[in-house]
Amino acid sequence: MSITYSTDSSYIHPSILNADFMSIGGELDKIASADSVHVDVMDNHFVPNLTFGPSMVEQIVERSPIPVDAHLMIEDADVQAPVFAEAGASSVTFHLEAARAPVKLARDLRRKNAQVGVALRPATPVEPLLDIIGEFDMLLIMTVEPGFGGQSFLESMLPKIRRARGAISEANLEVSIQVDGGVSRETVERCAEAGANVFVAGSAIYKARDAAEEISALRELAAAHPAH
Ligand code: DX5
Ligand code: ZN
Repeated sequence: MSITYSTDSSYIHPSILNADFMSIGGELDKIASADSVHVDVMDNHFVPNLTFGPSMVEQIVERSPIPVDAHLMIEDADVQAPVFAEAGASSVTFHLEAARAPVKLARDLRRKNAQVGVALRPATPVEPLLDIIGEFDMLLIMTVEPGFGGQSFLESMLPKIRRARGAISEANLEVSIQVDGGVSRETVERCAEAGANVFVAGSAIYKARDAAEEISALRELAAAHPAH
């Protein structure tokens, strides 16, 4: 199962970081109306938290009714990221800060039939990436410090999203912009207006009374506020 992103569409990716891991099957079924399930892989080195490894991701891929979007918050991305493409993730996003040869890695991942994302921590500027942005399908602009769910959205990331969208449009490229961290009904419109089209939401969806209703509310709000 895979997804091909179009910058004209909005995508909602619930993060299972705040799901109940003891009932993971049911937690995946709850979000079946979303576009992909966002799986946060953490190694306790790149970020101070530890989550899923490749075999767990493989099981999630098998069980999930929708494609898997793997967000790798791990060191040594050059060696580790291809393993997650082999595990069946539809998209694999690695952090620029953790990759020695991001262009080579992007090409390796594409050869393994994954959509490729590159992620930036809040303090990493987007400008050095712009000359190579066409190597990627998606740019993930973190809107919290990576590591944990449930943090507050960093408003200061909006200009970075706007600059990235401007440069991508000017170069006539089809690169999606994903936002991750503190995305909710309160913040999704501003992200969309700034130029994001892929929205990760963890606590907003898993803490909602009805996850499906929250997914459609976020999708409608995002679609109603396209970048301009
Ligand atoms: C944070 C993770 C996020 C997190 C988002 O490092 O990358 O995907 O689960 O959770 P919320 O939406 O609660 O900020
Ligand atoms: Zn994430």
